[in-house]
Amino acid sequence: MKKIILTGDRPTGRLHLGHYVGSLKRRVELQETGDYDKIYIMIADAQALTDNADNPEKVRQNIIEVALDYLSCGIDPAKSTLFIQSQIAELCELSFYYMNLVTVSRLQRNPTVKTEIKMRNFEANIPVGFFTYPISQAADITAFDATTVPAGEDQEPMIEQTREIVRRFNYIYGETLVEPDILLPTNSACCRLPGTDGMAKMSKSLGNCIYLSDTENEVSKRVKSMYTDPDHLRVSDPGKIEGNTVFAYLDAFCRPEHFAAYLPEYPNLDELKAHYRRGGLGDVKVKKFLEAILQEELAPIRARRKEFEQDIPAVYEILKKGSEAAREKAAETLGRVRHAMRIDYFSDSELIAEQAKNYAKGRE
Ligand code: TRP
Repeated sequence: MKKIILTGDRPTGRLHLGHYVGSLKRRVELQETGDYDKIYIMIADAQALTDNADNPEKVRQNIIEVALDYLSCGIDPAKSTLFIQSQIAELCELSFYYMNLVTVSRLQRNPTVKTEIKMRNFEANIPVGFFTYPISQAADITAFDATTVPAGEDQEPMIEQTREIVRRFNYIYGETLVEPDILLPTNSACCRLPGTDGMAKMSKSLGNCIYLSDTENEVSKRVKSMYTDPDHLRVSDPGKIEGNTVFAYLDAFCRPEHFAAYLPEYPNLDELKAHYRRGGLGDVKVKKFLEAILQEELAPIRARRKEFEQDIPAVYEILKKGSEAAREKAAETLGRVRHAMRIDYFSDSELIAEQAKNYAKGRE
C-alpha cells in the first residue's frame, strides 16, 4: 500500500512554536526522508470558517501567513502538495455522505469538540458546521487516501473519529476508504508546549505565543518574560522544574550539542535541572541558554520567510497549482465512493441494461 500524508492547519493566525514542535518540524523531516509516496499539506480555511463565519476577512488574510510559515520552515512545493481546503469542492460531498455514518451523541462525546465548545462559550448555540467539523476532517483525510496524519495530541480524537467513519463506510459499502494513523511527536515535551505565561497552550488570544515570524528582538523579550517558578526568588533558592515553562521549552528544543555551544559548564539537561533544583542557578542564566537555542532554530526560518515575502504572487501560484493537483486526487476518491455507495447511475451500464430488460419483460 502507498504511504500518504495529509495534514494541515487552520488559517486563523500566524503559526507559532507550538505548531512547530507539535507537527511542522516533523513534516519537514518526513518530507526529507523520501519514504512517502505523497505528502498533502492543507490550509484548512473551510474548517476555520466553522467558528469564524462572521469574520471571513481574518481567514482570508491568514492564508498567506500560514503558507509563508510552511515555506519558511522548509516545506518544499516540489516534494509536498500545498493546497487550500475550500478549493476542493469534493470534500463537501464526502462530508455530506459521511454525516449519515455518525451519530449526534458520538460527536458530543468527541473530547476535542467538547473542550473547544467550552473555550468558545458555544454551549447554548453551537453552529452545526462547527459541531460536525470532525466529519469534514474525516473527509479531508480520506479524500487523499492518507495513511498517516502527523499532528499534535489534540488531534487524536479527530483521527479516531475518522477511523470509525472509515470502518463503518467499508463495512456497509465494501472496502473503499483507507484507515489512517496519527503520527505524534516522538518527544512528549513537543506534544504540549505551554504558552510563555505557563498556561497549558499557546493561544493568540492569551498573547502567550512565540511566532515563527517574530523578530529576534520579540523572541528575546518573550523569553525574558517567561513564567518560571514563582517561589524561586533568589539565585540560591531551590527551584522547581515541574510547571516551569523555561524547562518545558528546553525539554522540547534542547539537544546535547547546545551545551557545548552555549553552556559548556554543564554536560546535559539533567545536570542543569539538578542544579536548578538544588539552588544556586538563576533564571536569567537558564533563559539566556534557551534564548540562544531558540534564536539558532528560528534564524534560518526567518531568513527564508524574508525571501518568500519578496514574491507573494509566486506563493499564491504554488497554492493554486497544489489545489489543482489535490482536487484531481479528491475527485478520483469521490468516484470510488459514489461507485461503492451505488450512486454512480450514469456510468453503471449494468444498472440501465438490467432495468431495461425487466421493463421489456413486463411488456411481453
Ligand atoms: N483540525 C486541525 C487544526 O485545528 C486542522 C485540520 C483540518 C487537519 N483538517 C485536517 C489536521 C486533517 C490534520 C488532518 O489545526
